[in-house]
Amino acid sequence: MASKVTVIGTGNFGSTVAFILAMRGSCHEVVLRGRNINIAKGKALDMSQAANAAREHTIVRAAEGPEDMAGSEIVVITAGAPRTPGMNRDDLLLKNAKIVKNYALEIKEHAPNAIVIVVSNPLDVMTYVAYKYTGFPRERILGMAGILDAARMAHFIYEKLGYGAGQIRATVMGGHGDTMVPLPKFTTVAGVPIEDLFDSEEIGEIVRKTKNGGAQIVDLLGDGSAYYAPAKSTAVMVDAILKDTKQIHSCAVYLDGEYGYKNIVSGVPAMIGAKGVEQIIEMTLKTLQKTRFKNSVQSVQDLVNVLYASKFFDDLEKIDEK
Ligand code: 2OP
Repeated sequence: MASKVTVIGTGNFGSTVAFILAMRGSCHEVVLRGRNINIAKGKALDMSQAANAAREHTIVRAAEGPEDMAGSEIVVITAGAPRTPGMNRDDLLLKNAKIVKNYALEIKEHAPNAIVIVVSNPLDVMTYVAYKYTGFPRERILGMAGILDAARMAHFIYEKLGYGAGQIRATVMGGHGDTMVPLPKFTTVAGVPIEDLFDSEEIGEIVRKTKNGGAQIVDLLGDGSAYYAPAKSTAVMVDAILKDTKQIHSCAVYLDGEYGYKNIVSGVPAMIGAKGVEQIIEMTLKTLQKTRFKNSVQSVQDLVNVLYASKFFDDLEKIDEK
């Protein structure tokens, strides 16, 4: 069966996701949906030609309108304002919530069977918004972040260690924000616990760098946020779904009792396959890890509460009645 992935947003992030998918021949068709159709068309042409250079079969097309999403197995939402220096991801809340809401409603109408991957920030709250406004089962709504945060942690471990690249398995849970929860106890280099490789001060530094990984790049770029590692992390999720790998990745998912939380989104290890989130894995956490995870869930809940208080969700019931 021909596979089709729509990427919403033609900025650096969306373009790079589409480009990685085209270069790997991950799917037959990538549809680029952006506000400026000419930019979407130009980038689509450029990427389709690059796919030919790479001897891959993927066609990249620009969407003329929302109906061009029809038949997508996966829709990736990258649209939204990026962070600028001095901003944290939460500062984007209301602006990006409106953008994600509109696209969620379009997906519900035009690609009702799609699996949705959300990467707009603040990530966990935007995933919650997409869950509420698509009305899709929670298996089909995933936020990308745990793979990215774990990749950053792995990078900082390698930077400090000087060896082991490609063998580092880092674990990060919780929201994709300042309260994310890197888990050194569940992090190894070729099976060797990092606690046997570093002292606690060094581990503390790796954790701090991981949490600050996105902001560091925002500061260096001066205009916009990281996109290569975020895009690659998103492509890993797309591949897991299209190839039905059933591998475990940390993703932002809607919790319905797991880890003791309901009606909220947070990053947890999940088994990803053709149906989306096929299983949420509940790890046994120690008291301190549980407390940190709780704080992280609470910080997402605080932002969701801001949206409820600003009456953002007030149209949900009317939409559900339609
Ligand atoms: C990051 O952490 C964009 O949130 C993304 O770089």
